[in-house]
Amino acid sequence: ALSSMKVLVVGGGAREHAICKSVRKNAHLYSAMKNLNPGIKRICEEYLLEKETEVKVIADYAEEKGMDLVIVGPEAPEEAGIVDEIQKKGIKVASPQKKAAEIETDKEFMRAIMKKYDIPGSVKYEAFSNAEKAANFIQTLDGNVAVKPVGLTGGKGVRVQGDHFDGIEGAIDYARKVIKNKIGGEKRVLIEEKLDGEEFTLQAFCDGSMISPLPAVQDHKRLLPGDEGVNTGGMGSYSQGNGLLPFLKRDEYEESATILQKIVESLNREGRKYIGAIYGQFMLTATGPKVVEVNARWGDPEVMNILPLLKSDFVDLSIAMVNGELCEKKIEMEEKATVCKYAVPEGYGTKPIAGEPINVNEDGIKKEGGELFYASVNESDNEIYTTTSRSLAIVGMADKIEEAEAICERSLTNVKGRVFIRHDIGKKELIRSRVEHMEKLR
Ligand code: AMP
Ligand code: GLY
Repeated sequence: ALSSMKVLVVGGGAREHAICKSVRKNAHLYSAMKNLNPGIKRICEEYLLEKETEVKVIADYAEEKGMDLVIVGPEAPEEAGIVDEIQKKGIKVASPQKKAAEIETDKEFMRAIMKKYDIPGSVKYEAFSNAEKAANFIQTLDGNVAVKPVGLTGGKGVRVQGDHFDGIEGAIDYARKVIKNKIGGEKRVLIEEKLDGEEFTLQAFCDGSMISPLPAVQDHKRLLPGDEGVNTGGMGSYSQGNGLLPFLKRDEYEESATILQKIVESLNREGRKYIGAIYGQFMLTATGPKVVEVNARWGDPEVMNILPLLKSDFVDLSIAMVNGELCEKKIEMEEKATVCKYAVPEGYGTKPIAGEPINVNEDGIKKEGGELFYASVNESDNEIYTTTSRSLAIVGMADKIEEAEAICERSLTNVKGRVFIRHDIGKKELIRSRVEHMEKLR
């Protein structure tokens, strides 16, 4: 039976559609979103169409509608202080306060915390407001660097040697540009040693003192097959039934979970208690997992690999995070592989074509066994239209990655319109190349 709880989910993307589906299993769902997500609209009791950073308006809405719990999807409202604002009204929030969310919204702070508490998985780095000093540091690292704005850029502001620029000059040029144009909101640039290896994501529930880690996932940030093209919000992702990845061993997984746990403990010591989903982006290198970034929320697309497997009640676990009671919960998951692929508007990443109709045969997708999550589309007159952001995602689940991939692809044939999909995600060839890449480095 449905509990009498009322839960507000903030955000209108595919990540939030996934969260909403899980909430809806055992609570009354409310939504605050900037676009009219057709999937969320259909399953919620009520929604507020509003920019997600309008924190006062959303907090008032939560109060007026008598919410018992709020879950925040994206990082921008966290940075705008939405959690603190809603808590002032005596409402529980299963997401981190602004000061704890700085672990994502201030990349320099994240690196500084890791250094201060001597947490393993750190990298060489310095942050600069002065372009000349940045240039000197880039030279001492031989140009083998990642150049990052300190603040939020939607995952699109980072440039890496060899991927996005070449040589010391290329690095210095971009560092200069970040400072001059205040990319990420500040006249400041972070220079990090470039890491070589395979990336993976580790998400966890966190109740302020302990984390409960979930299966590892590999996202695909680059737009085009074979990891070519620009960085995107993520084109798709996969996971394996045993919670590891084809190139990731058990002890490496454990090591990365320990790193996340230590980060949470240090935040606690800094008076920034962390409650909510926490997301570690790791690079598995020849010398073990290193932290690429920490996000203060569920991953998009990565949460879509996790929630369809969750057998335990999501609302119950979210409340346990708020109440500091995760240690009393056993998290039960289906031990299956998942493959998630996004359909994005043609031109996405450079010149996306918005306002194009797409035809989604939902029954067809269900028949193939796929799980559908709508993202940044709008619905009007029962038609679905693209925006400039990702349109929808489909997840296939099965014992093996290749079966999950096949389910995902068969389901995607039910989506018609001017969309682009990275078909190589989850396919044997790409996974094999990742395993070989890692073997070569070890
Ligand atoms: P971020 O927004 O920090 O996740 O960076 C976006 C992407 O840039 C990451 O997913 C990595 O692929 C890449 N990246 C970030 N930092 C580094 C680094 N220090 N070395 C190599 N690649 C990096
Ligand atoms: N998949 C990237 C992110 O959620 O930040």
